[in-house]
Amino acid sequence: MQKILFISDPHICAQGETIIGLDPSERLEAVLEAAISAHPDAAALILLGDLTHHGHAAEYAELARNLSQVTIPIIPMIGNHDRRDAFLAQFPDAPKTTSGHIQQWRDIGTHRLITLDSLDGPPYPGGHHAGLLCPDRLSFLETALTTRSGRHAIVCIHHPPFKTGVIGMDRIMLANGAAVLDLLARHGNLHLVCGHMHQTISGNTNGVPWTVFKSPCHQGVVELVKHTSGLSTDEPGAYGLGLLAPDGLIIHSIDVGTGARVIDGYGAQREPRS
Ligand SMILES: [Fe+2]
Repeated sequence: MQKILFISDPHICAQGETIIGLDPSERLEAVLEAAISAHPDAAALILLGDLTHHGHAAEYAELARNLSQVTIPIIPMIGNHDRRDAFLAQFPDAPKTTSGHIQQWRDIGTHRLITLDSLDGPPYPGGHHAGLLCPDRLSFLETALTTRSGRHAIVCIHHPPFKTGVIGMDRIMLANGAAVLDLLARHGNLHLVCGHMHQTISGNTNGVPWTVFKSPCHQGVVELVKHTSGLSTDEPGAYGLGLLAPDGLIIHSIDVGTGARVIDGYGAQREPRS
């Protein structure tokens, strides 16, 4: 069974800068080491946006350094903290649509990976970091889903088009999320994967199954009452693993750097599990 890796929201800064006391490069490199040493045969690594913290050229240069030893094909996406021009200056070979968006689709066996660009700014409408799939991007998505010849689709969007209950983040979700969910529900046979939340969350909205992955760096907080999107916690980083099953998709989220041990709980006196 083929597999793919997901890393969301690395928020790379210039060398020496930290976020809530965490070094984003150090955290990303630890997650890359764990993910790739466990799954060196992965067919692709999808970076789910917010590649950098400020969208600065020096940050994309640092990201390129972080990724320089990775031999698995990388599919980068853009998030609300990114800037397309600075990204493309560092990664000029990244696929770009005629409308100027960082988007692509790629077929791996029985699956089609569709990665979309939901950045809406700057300037950000209303000063908020919400996202958008404009008509050009929706048309791209429609074409990608229509031409997949029966393949299962994995649709990746940085901004969730659904609410999660985290009240501050729900205010900066995908602005036209309802329209996107309608489109996805109409096509079916797909799984939606998002970032932006810095939390591990799963659910089903309007019949569309979805998963959100944590960051390798700072994590979000399950705040269901207060209107804030700025709360972060220094829980362990994580990566996602997708197993491309012939009948669909299996998803794991793996924490890194927890200090947790792997122990055979059955002990030496017992027969190994079959
Ligand atoms: Fe982020």
